[in-house]
Amino acid sequence: MIRQYTAYSLLAHNTFGIEAKAARYVEFASQSALIDFLGDGFRGKALVIGGGSNLLFVDDFDGTVFHSAIMDIDIVEETANDVLLRVGSGVNWDALVAYTVEKGWSGLENLSLIPGEVGASAVQNVGAYGVEAGDLIEKVETVRIADAVTCSFTKADCDFAYRHSIFKATEKGRHIVTYVTYRLKKTIEFKLSYGNLKEKVEELGGATLANVRRAVCEIREAKLPNPEQIGSAGSFFMNPIVAADKAAQLKSEYPSMPQYPLPSGEVKLSAGWLIEQCGWKQTPHEHVGVYQHQALVVVNLGGAKGSDVLKFASAVVASVKEKFGVELNMEVNVIG
Ligand code: EPU
Repeated sequence: MIRQYTAYSLLAHNTFGIEAKAARYVEFASQSALIDFLGDGFRGKALVIGGGSNLLFVDDFDGTVFHSAIMDIDIVEETANDVLLRVGSGVNWDALVAYTVEKGWSGLENLSLIPGEVGASAVQNVGAYGVEAGDLIEKVETVRIADAVTCSFTKADCDFAYRHSIFKATEKGRHIVTYVTYRLKKTIEFKLSYGNLKEKVEELGGATLANVRRAVCEIREAKLPNPEQIGSAGSFFMNPIVAADKAAQLKSEYPSMPQYPLPSGEVKLSAGWLIEQCGWKQTPHEHVGVYQHQALVVVNLGGAKGSDVLKFASAVVASVKEKFGVELNMEVNVIG
């Protein structure tokens, strides 16, 4: 089934809470309905959205917004150790995590409470607490917009890296994700080394899937704004990655700077820390600021336009560049 609207408000489809309109909005409930709709291919201006938790609308969108309402979840293979789960791209991410935890299948529990939907998790390679969605993804199925042909990408094809996939690079804007298949484990492998996760899990009574989920939810609730109450798009910037010598120079100047060495030899820095050091927790602009408990999150203080958010973000980037000589890149997808 297809549902179509014109001059459609996207307010309820972006967690920043910004008013913008789509010339046309198309929601599809199955892959076959989408293929029928696209016919021999769609050549207009297209934007595919998930839960709208990583979008910043600066203008109205004068093309067609596609949104998946494919909701099926099927076990496609099950062995003594593994479950292969094929999930519709419209399924709410956290509902999927809750479902897998309830079933006793491990893999996604550290990714609890991330806003958004299954399709976007593969594009964005969402990650938190030492796990990335791409670690669990076996296959991504799409429909190609230009010719309505179905495509299938293996994990290797997807080229997952930190907040990165082929769908943000060479295949950007070309596909509508319809299904993502995850390989989950029946023998539980806990990943508790990030921050205070282990401590929190112990407080809750020890490592079980349910306790890991609860611990992650509690940590996130304490640090990140609830999109239903405060407009934001989660982390606004990516954590910057710098060369080892640059990291060493910064460490000698700022001994308390958090740094995370990567296998490549480069070092990941905390954008939140850098932004906080530039004083942004104390200096909001009109309508826009950073979240008091996590400076990486830019928040709509009420009535912000996309352009207000962008102006604020540019001032943040410039201050971090000036103080630390480090370039911040946006994680959020700016539309318009
Ligand atoms: N920090 C500060 N001040 C701040 C924020 C952070 O000093 O205002 C310090 C913290 O004390 C800590 C370090 O920076 O030492 C890292 O902070 P945190 O553990 O909160 O994680 P993050 O690197 O800021 C990333 C992800 C989050 C994810 C967390 C946990 C990105 C862009 N963000 O944040 O993802 O939940 O790790 O794994 O990689 C999202 O993408 O929307 C998101 C919330």
